[in-house]
Amino acid sequence: MRPRINRWTSARRDLIFGNDIRSSLVQPHFVVAGENVNHPIQSMPGINRQSVDVLLETIDSDMQKGLSAHMLFLVLGHDQKDTNASYAADSQSPLHQAVRLLKEKYGDEIVLMTDLCLCTGTDHGHCGIIVENRIDNDVTVEQLVKIAISQAESGVDYISASDMMDGRVNRLRMELENHGFTSTGILSYSVKYASSFYGPFRDAADSSPQFGDRRSHQMDVRSGYSEAIMEALTDESEGADIIMVKPGLPYLDVLRKVADAVVRPVAVYNVSGEYSMVMSANPTVEQRGAMVREIFHAFNRAGADIIVTYHAREAITENWV
Ligand code: PBG
Repeated sequence: MRPRINRWTSARRDLIFGNDIRSSLVQPHFVVAGENVNHPIQSMPGINRQSVDVLLETIDSDMQKGLSAHMLFLVLGHDQKDTNASYAADSQSPLHQAVRLLKEKYGDEIVLMTDLCLCTGTDHGHCGIIVENRIDNDVTVEQLVKIAISQAESGVDYISASDMMDGRVNRLRMELENHGFTSTGILSYSVKYASSFYGPFRDAADSSPQFGDRRSHQMDVRSGYSEAIMEALTDESEGADIIMVKPGLPYLDVLRKVADAVVRPVAVYNVSGEYSMVMSANPTVEQRGAMVREIFHAFNRAGADIIVTYHAREAITENWV
């Protein structure tokens, strides 16, 4: 356990301990190879897949507005995918490049989080390495550790483990320590359901499973509070610095229970399907502001210290919070 990780920079402290909703927002981004790529995602108006150069401009403008926490997802072309997502550990990937450039430019003023899962890098779209037709937990964890260390080397603030393999926080913490990364945080997607609200994200990240589903590792949508609390407490005891509940709106009750059960800061992911639901109602900016503000208050009331949301940029630009 390293409680200093969440206090390491003023940007981390503002994000986690700031009392206002504005400082608790995290904006997700989809990073692709190439130059000058700014490709809209149809089901997520306002969210684009961007090459590193465009991403840097986007985050530049975000930073000037005071939006300083960002979560990066690597999106790969089919020719870069394989059975064990090996390219995700490549220090020359667009994601690693982006982290290095952003950290060079903003240092401690930015909080960068990188997604850690195999699903965007495997040719079959599954979150793990398949052995005899099943996702092999422990083989997958070792590959996740390799990717995480490569991300830590590029200077990221928080490794955001969204894979839902057993025991991965433990292995991640151990290997971060072994490699001397004592200020790199772990944000764990501790309570992540096998939800139908991730559809637009899977379009954006091209990460839909080619066969089967994610129900052998993500949580059963019918499961009760004890399962959620068990997952959260396990990750906490293994050394997670931030505990995440995902999705957000359909699980506000779970968020409340988890926030009451753990002592570490809690994040919520206002996922792609929740974003699309708001956007597809076609609200005016004013109506959208009222809806988004209400949603953020709900997360806040249910105990979230951090809100990961595709609405972050507009909420800050339009002063909704
Ligand atoms: C990767 C990952 C997913 C999301 C975040 N990380 C997709 C999934 O688990 O299938 C979903 C985010 C969203 O829907 O906005 N495993």
